[in-house]
Amino acid sequence: MRILVLGSGGREHALAWAFARSAEVDEVVCAPGNPGMAAVGRCIPVDVADPAAVAQLADDLDADLTVVGAEVPLVAGVVDAVEARGRLAFGPRAAGARLEGSKAWMKEVLAAAGVPTADHATFGAGEEEQALAHLDRLPGLYIVKTDGLAAGKGVVVTESIAEARDAVREYLSGEAFGDAGRRIVIEEGLTGPEVSLLVLCDGADGAVALAPAQDFKRIGDGDAGPNTGGMGAYSPVPAAPDAMVDELMRTAVIPTLTELRERGVEYRGILYAGLMLTPTGPKVLEYNVRFGDPECEVVVPRLRSDLARHCLEAAQGRIGTPVAFADEACVTVVLATEGYPAAPRSGDVIEGVDAAEAHDGVLVFHAGTTRDAAGALRTAGGRVLNVTALGPSIEAARARAYAACAEISWPGMQYRRDIAASP
Ligand code: AMP
Ligand code: GLY
Repeated sequence: MRILVLGSGGREHALAWAFARSAEVDEVVCAPGNPGMAAVGRCIPVDVADPAAVAQLADDLDADLTVVGAEVPLVAGVVDAVEARGRLAFGPRAAGARLEGSKAWMKEVLAAAGVPTADHATFGAGEEEQALAHLDRLPGLYIVKTDGLAAGKGVVVTESIAEARDAVREYLSGEAFGDAGRRIVIEEGLTGPEVSLLVLCDGADGAVALAPAQDFKRIGDGDAGPNTGGMGAYSPVPAAPDAMVDELMRTAVIPTLTELRERGVEYRGILYAGLMLTPTGPKVLEYNVRFGDPECEVVVPRLRSDLARHCLEAAQGRIGTPVAFADEACVTVVLATEGYPAAPRSGDVIEGVDAAEAHDGVLVFHAGTTRDAAGALRTAGGRVLNVTALGPSIEAARARAYAACAEISWPGMQYRRDIAASP
């Protein structure tokens, strides 16, 4: 089969890498891809958020399966456009992707499905006074979120009411995130460890949880500083054993899929539940409609069954092949540029990737990289590389990942030193 992978991040590199190892895959094509993906497949430029352009590309390539990496193309309806050409695509259609495209709608679905989640209120443009008054009634941990997509950065979690008030004003005015922020969700603050559960769904009654992962969203060690797209991850998660995964499927994921079906949405692809294990039980913080990044980079390398087969079956609407994971642990550390997440610097020459990849059990997935005319690898974005290692335990995988990180350098490179330090 010929698989078209849409995207250019560490997640898409991990997916393309896994597809290239499948006995069922003859060719991996990446669009637009990145220098790391170019090592596993042909790369072709495309605007991934343009459904017509993607559908045309799938046709031109005669792609048997199109796998969509990120939420923006899913919300834009890329799967609908590819399916309209009679071709298979992995990911939800726009109607299902709305779960990530609108946090207010997601909360409505969760409430209707009876899924435990943080209490919330929604406010639109012109409701700033009401939103600020609502903050005053909250007990001291303030959560303000944009309704729409904001690349993982539209969430403020703060104990400072002044900061929460600023977020309300900047979001609702459109100043911070444009239209995505003109509607906001304010939530009660929850506490506890977080778990990301990625569930493979076939739109009928097939839903299989992949191995849980935990990511690290804040920029700094000890969870200091602003939220990012994710600075590292590990899998498995000792705080989320099999029995808990079963409970999460029963109390959160299955009721959500059932509620969606009752609304006429056959949800197909990955449903990513972001959960907090609170003192009063697990609660859903959010749903995403695709593999997590960097969770994908620690879940996929542990997979022993064939990812291409799983994605094909889900796209066809009937999961059958059992999902199997290695006992090995996996840790990924994100290497980011100076200034990330506020103002990432680009264009620096990256040294040492080959030396890092030569380490035992290490894979380096590219995200924000580019090759210049002379063939040198340069930074091109905030999150640049995912240095990933498998090992017999989380500790061993962690030690391997950090030893490999020490091989890589460029001016201003930054990364967290505490990924998977106390799982
Ligand atoms: P989200 O994009 O909704 O997952 O939010 C990003 C991050 O903000 C989460 O991974 C949590 O660390 C934090 N967060 C979101 N909602 C809450 C909440 N209600 N209480 C505490 N932390 C939260
Ligand atoms: N790592 C968080 C996300 O993919 O949304």
